[in-house]
Amino acid sequence: MNKEINVLFLDDEENILFALSRLLMEESYGIIKTTDPDEAMALIEKHPIKVVVSDQRMPKISGIDFLKNVKQKYPDKMRILLSGYVDFVTAEEAINFGEVYRFLIKPWKTPYLKASIQHAIEQYDLVGSHRALYDASLKKTAELEELNKKLQGMYEIQRSFTSTVSHELRTPLASIKMAIDLVMGGTAGGLNEQQIKFLMKAKDNVDRLNRLINDILDLTKLEAGRMPLKLQMANIHDVIMEVVEIQGAVLKERGIYLKTEFAENVPLVSFDKDRMIQVFSNLITNALKFTDKGGVTIVTVFEEDKSRIKVAVRDTGVGIQPEDLSKLFQKFQQLGDASERKTGGTGLGLAICKEIVIRHGGEIWIESVYGEGSSFNFTIPVVKKTEENV
Ligand SMILES: Nc1ncnc2c1ncn2[C@@H]1O[C@H](COP(=O)(O)OP(=O)(O)O)[C@@H](O)[C@H]1O
Ligand SMILES: [Mg+2]
Repeated sequence: MNKEINVLFLDDEENILFALSRLLMEESYGIIKTTDPDEAMALIEKHPIKVVVSDQRMPKISGIDFLKNVKQKYPDKMRILLSGYVDFVTAEEAINFGEVYRFLIKPWKTPYLKASIQHAIEQYDLVGSHRALYDASLKKTAELEELNKKLQGMYEIQRSFTSTVSHELRTPLASIKMAIDLVMGGTAGGLNEQQIKFLMKAKDNVDRLNRLINDILDLTKLEAGRMPLKLQMANIHDVIMEVVEIQGAVLKERGIYLKTEFAENVPLVSFDKDRMIQVFSNLITNALKFTDKGGVTIVTVFEEDKSRIKVAVRDTGVGIQPEDLSKLFQKFQQLGDASERKTGGTGLGLAICKEIVIRHGGEIWIESVYGEGSSFNFTIPVVKKTEENV
């Protein structure tokens, strides 16, 4: 059987080399021997050597110096010194400075010799496999980084594509809307009831498309951090009242209430008014949309210990099943069958709310009991800043 040559012996005495190779003939590794240190170096280069065993006293170079050279050139080879005379200082130094792995005394005790070489081989293999693992993980990390960069690039392209397309859709849509308005206004002659009905439907859908485009543009900008907040110190109640008044007007015939429960001690906070109106509009529209009896209450609380205002938009509507809660802040998520969906929604509202709240440094979450109602809650931190572009 051809054994792989894993062990090299260097000794200036041929008979020692001979004795050693006879002794280790039966081992699982192959050995190679030489009396010349230069040749030894060449052999290490040539064979898959794992362990180098060297004599100490040789004419050309001392064993320790030779092993130092080996260490410098092949740091992972295991090195064993085999010395005929006991020099404790040399041995101590060699071992403690890591020049050699084991120190054996001549005449050697065969079990020690065998065990030392065996351990050295195992150690070599262990280090090798660790290194291979490490190298593999470095390679994987590099691959992942590369992939990540690619994805980032693709994401950027998709983002700019989305925003360009959305912009481009606006102009033709505006002209469609104008044409519909003109026809409905009688500019092109009188219309019968059915024609008006069809045109109304067209108009509704144009409005819906417009909302969708605006939502997509907003969300793309928010996600890309390209929507600077115009922060100002103001009373959050004023913003809520603005939205409540608008929504209240359309509510009349539905027989449900829309009311507020404001805390009295709520301080002024820093926020972007237009964006906050967007949040409240969506939360309140949603709440009203999914409530058939009872109504909607907007509650504010000043959580002084946490330096934040907590706002809750509560409804007594359909509620949300626990397994659906986490889906709601994702884009284009609308619950229920398509046929059940109330018209007008885009499924982007809550995703936009979440981005806006987070950009303000707040948190947003939902509590809901299916069949009883939901509470959409978020916080606005109370900070002393007056203006900032984030
Ligand atoms: N107050 C609520 N009660 C029950 N379900 C709600 C409520 N608010 C939102 N939802 C659910 O979350 C979905 C996503 O809401 P949103 O992101 O605002 O999109 P949209 O209003 O355009 O459908 C809604 O379609 C609905 O299924
Ligand atoms: Mg909505």
